[in-house]
Amino acid sequence: MKVFVGQPLAEPSTTDLLAGHTVVVGRGGLPEEETAAHLPGADAFLPTPRERVTEAVLKRAPRLLIVATCSVGTDHIDLGACRARGILVTNTPDVLTEATADLAFALLLAVARRLHEGESLVRSGTWDGWKPNELLGVSLEGKTLGIYGMGRIGTAVARRAAAFGMRVLGATIEDPPERFEELLSSSDFLSIHTPLTPATRRRFSDAELGRMKRGAILVNTARGPIVDEAALVRALDRGQLFGAGLDVYEEEPRIHPGLLSRADVVLLPHLGSATRETRLAMARLACEEIVRRFRGEPPLHPVV
Ligand code: DGY
Repeated sequence: MKVFVGQPLAEPSTTDLLAGHTVVVGRGGLPEEETAAHLPGADAFLPTPRERVTEAVLKRAPRLLIVATCSVGTDHIDLGACRARGILVTNTPDVLTEATADLAFALLLAVARRLHEGESLVRSGTWDGWKPNELLGVSLEGKTLGIYGMGRIGTAVARRAAAFGMRVLGATIEDPPERFEELLSSSDFLSIHTPLTPATRRRFSDAELGRMKRGAILVNTARGPIVDEAALVRALDRGQLFGAGLDVYEEEPRIHPGLLSRADVVLLPHLGSATRETRLAMARLACEEIVRRFRGEPPLHPVV
């Protein structure tokens, strides 16, 4: 059988689990046309969040049995088109929950305690010693952490918050609008953990950011388009927010220039699940789903 893998994965995964099959590995983030060119003979496609799986791509893949994405997010896949063609879609939940929650908390702490500014000061060689008022941040204890999206990762973030003495306020997209309003107006920190869907796209734009508590900190490790980056820059400019921690962006890998130049934001390159253990577990899970499909066994994590 032939398997197309969007970009090199943590190994051993393809090397042992897909041994005996023809595995072709792309260079990552290929334009749709180039991805499609690899698919006419493929029985399985293992994309990452950078490879878009659209109707146009699927049209060129008549043999495809499974799209096994190496991610929990599936917003890069046209699920309706896969369903219509009878193509199984699987993802990699669970194995990345704790790593992603760790990174959300790392961003929260980095912004609250101004780690990026402190690091830059030390490395600049201009730091001249302890000062009572230098780089004062925000305490976590006793503060409210709003969590938008209380699935696996949101719940794991809530557990960490409890250990820091924070009060947790969770809200989901299904909650009545008043709950979202409470999340905006009461959260000292707000961390986003909801999938990108038409309902969550630009959920945090000028109006919503304007209703956030003054001096709050926003953290996004979910998907970039949930936050309107231009609106976020405006909210930071007018001092509505103390800062923001971002791991994901509206048009990755492009980042709004108004964010790049700010000291009150911490910017990471989509590292949520990036531990050696987690990326290996994700890669192996995606390969396992392909092997199960080839053998006619039920999928572990079917999406469609
Ligand atoms: C995912 O899994 O969806 C992340 O964005 C990459 O780990």
